[in-house]
Amino acid sequence: MSQTVPRQNSIGLAQLVEPVANELKEVEKTLFAEMRSDVPWMNELLKSSSLAQGKRMRPLLLLLCGSQCGELGPGHVSMAAALEMIHVATLVHDDILDGAESRRHQPTVGHKHGQHVGILLGDYLFTHAFSVSTRTGSADAISILARASNRVCEGEMRQNFFQGDLNLKQSQYLEIVSDKTAELVAAACHLGAALSGANEHVCAGFEKYGRDLGIAFQIVDDVLDIVGDVDDVGKTLGTDAANSKLTLPVIHCRNSLNDEEQAQLLTYLTSSNITNEGLMKWLKKTESIEYARDLARGYITEALTFAKSLKPTAFSASLTQVAEFVLRRTH
Ligand code: IPE
Ligand code: IPE
Ligand code: MG
Ligand code: MG
Repeated sequence: MSQTVPRQNSIGLAQLVEPVANELKEVEKTLFAEMRSDVPWMNELLKSSSLAQGKRMRPLLLLLCGSQCGELGPGHVSMAAALEMIHVATLVHDDILDGAESRRHQPTVGHKHGQHVGILLGDYLFTHAFSVSTRTGSADAISILARASNRVCEGEMRQNFFQGDLNLKQSQYLEIVSDKTAELVAAACHLGAALSGANEHVCAGFEKYGRDLGIAFQIVDDVLDIVGDVDDVGKTLGTDAANSKLTLPVIHCRNSLNDEEQAQLLTYLTSSNITNEGLMKWLKKTESIEYARDLARGYITEALTFAKSLKPTAFSASLTQVAEFVLRRTH
């Protein structure tokens, strides 16, 4: 594995990452340097799981928001690496919760090495991330990271609690999404601005941009879980319905059906032979994929309004493009 930023490590648009490409390479170097252990098999595990080619969207956002608010420094790079480690930790644990077999085009840690190893590796990544974050020397920044990590765990816990609840409301779904996904994206944007010395009011604007982006990101992810191409997405699909975790398209479909059809859908959702193809027959009837995409578009419109209100720079242009990417992404 090379230390340069591989193509897939960006979110797919060279132009978009260009303004912070050098700093992203520094983040990558930090990840390579940190994801090392004296225990040989642990070393392999860290490399294959943590350094695999994710989109690095959270580090990218931190660096773009930081640049928009001032000069980037080593603190931004350390925090961006810490944020990616937290993200990977949540993914390793999430794949155990979801029984997912592949992620980032590779077998998941839990699937390949067993759940115990996955739990321990996730814990290692969480704790190591905090150790790396201390290099910022900013108690405020570390506290933002800690609070966001807590909320991600609360979001996953909340989703776990509602697993199998076929009455899940849209508002409850959005609360889960805001915690388990948007929180870390919001923290990325907030941290970038805060580490550049932005005041509270400015930080709040960036934080909200990240939250809108994060909510839309997860809604699109849940759509891709149903309609995505497994080779593009690179992870196990169809896990939400298979695990009775209701997501927006299914919630909307259920709410749009008459009583008789609703009862049939619920029976289907609890059957053991549920497939995305089978589910799509229901979702087409109620145009629920379109509904979910429209709701995501609403959040993206908010994010775009913010990005376009910023001083025009290469960084704010990229923040606009990230928002556009979130809506049309296929991976
Ligand atoms: C996956 O996040 C988990 C969700 C919040 C949906 P990403 O799609 O950013 O994952 P990587 O980092 O690119 O693998
Ligand atoms: C995202 O949840 C994981 C976290 C935010 C921790 P999902 O289970 O919906 O995401 P994927 O589809 O596995 O990446
Ligand atoms: Mg999952
Ligand atoms: Mg999950």
